[in-house]
Amino acid sequence: MERQPHQWLSERSSEDVECQRALLALERLPRHVAIIMDGNGRWATARNLPRIAGHREGIESVRDIVKASAELGIGYLTLYAFSTENWKRPEAEVSALMRLLEYYLRAELDELDRNNVRINAIGKLVALPTRVQRILTRAIERTAGNTGLVLTLALSYSGRWDIVRAVQMIALDVRRGKLSPEDISDELFGSYLSTAGMPEPDLLIRTSGELRVSNFLLWEIAYAELYSTATLWPDFRRQEYYHALANYARRERRFGMTSEQVSASSNSVPYRTYIKELFDTLVQRRKG
Ligand code: FPP
Repeated sequence: MERQPHQWLSERSSEDVECQRALLALERLPRHVAIIMDGNGRWATARNLPRIAGHREGIESVRDIVKASAELGIGYLTLYAFSTENWKRPEAEVSALMRLLEYYLRAELDELDRNNVRINAIGKLVALPTRVQRILTRAIERTAGNTGLVLTLALSYSGRWDIVRAVQMIALDVRRGKLSPEDISDELFGSYLSTAGMPEPDLLIRTSGELRVSNFLLWEIAYAELYSTATLWPDFRRQEYYHALANYARRERRFGMTSEQVSASSNSVPYRTYIKELFDTLVQRRKG
């Protein structure tokens, strides 16, 4: 199946190509990356700018991370763009964020589509302004046949909201006689969540130094590896993303088993020092 984001691949610098090759050689990239994009407000305040300037710059990071994910062949990228709790922010900030979302979708739709990205959204979407709902539906429908990166925007979303919603739907199906309580398993429960059909996140990144999951994908991150960085979201670009991915590749995921059991299982690829060195040198060179 054709998965390549052709235009983006051909626009990469030669250094970037080298970096991505080194990462791919690790043979251990996550299938699904989830990101809590935090620190936009602090980024703006530190520059004496209104908070919305931080969100605006945050869009540049969204663009770069989406592109880098697609270029690397990562299957799923889920971004926490607006939580249920974010509705409590000052009205001016909420409406500015909604306008930015609309702007992003309008401005990027053609390019995302050309690069084989499939747009998806989770959350209480009916709570969004009609204009945002409209462009979101258009983006989802237009990219539905794409086979590359699945970009999921979590909007008016919270993990508890999704879990409660799933419980309600399961209870209804039990009442209608479509299910019996004994049928309820991990798998069945997952199939009632808004992330049904996606693999669970392998890596959860949070920017701005906070060590919280803030009601994001609560069920789905049971075994996710966590990566937290002090970098504020508007400053989080592909170089640091590559670091997070290389860091993930070095970890041993045991899923409750022992190290010996994991080594004996076929999906364990030993970490290769020479690639680590090559990768670190390249990232260092880019920074300098
Ligand atoms: C958290 O920073 C960020 C948000 C609540 C919104 C994230 C939105 C964007 C990056 C732009 C739009 C997104 C897309 C997908 C187009 P904060 O405001 O809580 O920062 P602070 O903790 O420093 O105050």
